[in-house]
Amino acid sequence: MRGTPSSDDAASVEGEPAPDSGASDRAPAGSSRDVAYPAELERELAGIVERHLRLRPVRSDDAERLVAFHSRLSPGSIYRRYFAVRPLLTAQEVSHLTQVDYVDRLALVVVDAGAGDAIVAIGRYERIPATTTGEVAFVVRDDFQHLGLGHLLLDQLAQAAWARGLTKFSAVTLRENRGMIAIFEHSGFPVTTSQRDEEYYVSFSIDPAERRHASPALDPSSAE
Ligand SMILES: CC(C)(COP(=O)(O)OP(=O)(O)OC[C@H]1O[C@@H](n2cnc3c(N)ncnc32)[C@H](O)[C@@H]1OP(=O)(O)O)[C@@H](O)C(=O)NCCC(=O)NCCS
Repeated sequence: MRGTPSSDDAASVEGEPAPDSGASDRAPAGSSRDVAYPAELERELAGIVERHLRLRPVRSDDAERLVAFHSRLSPGSIYRRYFAVRPLLTAQEVSHLTQVDYVDRLALVVVDAGAGDAIVAIGRYERIPATTTGEVAFVVRDDFQHLGLGHLLLDQLAQAAWARGLTKFSAVTLRENRGMIAIFEHSGFPVTTSQRDEEYYVSFSIDPAERRHASPALDPSSAE
């Protein structure tokens, strides 16, 4: 969850078609693959708040929206997301966070269509090299927290990751981050946890067959 970007993995978003989904190609991948923007992950979010919210994959033209989103986060939210005081994102970080390959690195954003498509929440995974595990991280704008967007992002990310050959999610969060921990514990996935110092480690299979129940924040009408 610390989400420290590296400089060498900004990926192109153009090129080859998306790979087939399904368990048969669930193999460790060592490098990012270039794929097209996955429009099938877009959702209209009805019934979460009385706003016109949309969920969609992040795009490389989201850089300014991401900077604006970050500028509206409270210091506490930034600290819980990055484990550091980070009032501004560097250009390199913005590039890393908005340029993904949609397979090994995927971010979903929730945008407020009634406010110029302002980003109000982001969830992402990054495949840990040579594994089928994705490390996940989430951040929701303070005025949109506690509305179920965290649950929704985990749910949609897990489905997308499973379709792209990942089998597990892992995360590191702060022990005091009850909201984030509640999302994992109430997700229906078989979560295992451990703690060290102030950090809380979470790991779980994202196999839909192992999920005990759907996300509590989702009903079929809210993501169609
Ligand atoms: C953690 C975070 C992503 C949760 O997103 P969210 O949209 O507010 O979460 P949801 O509305 O889906 O609620 C998640 C659960 O946490 C609970 N919760 C939310 N805030 C809480 C708080 N401050 N204390 C205790 N529980 C809280 C909710 O009741 C809900 O519980 P449920 O599982 O019983 O429904 C969001 O608060 C956030 O962005 N925080 C700052 C960044 C951060 O902490 N990122 C994660 C670690 S890197």
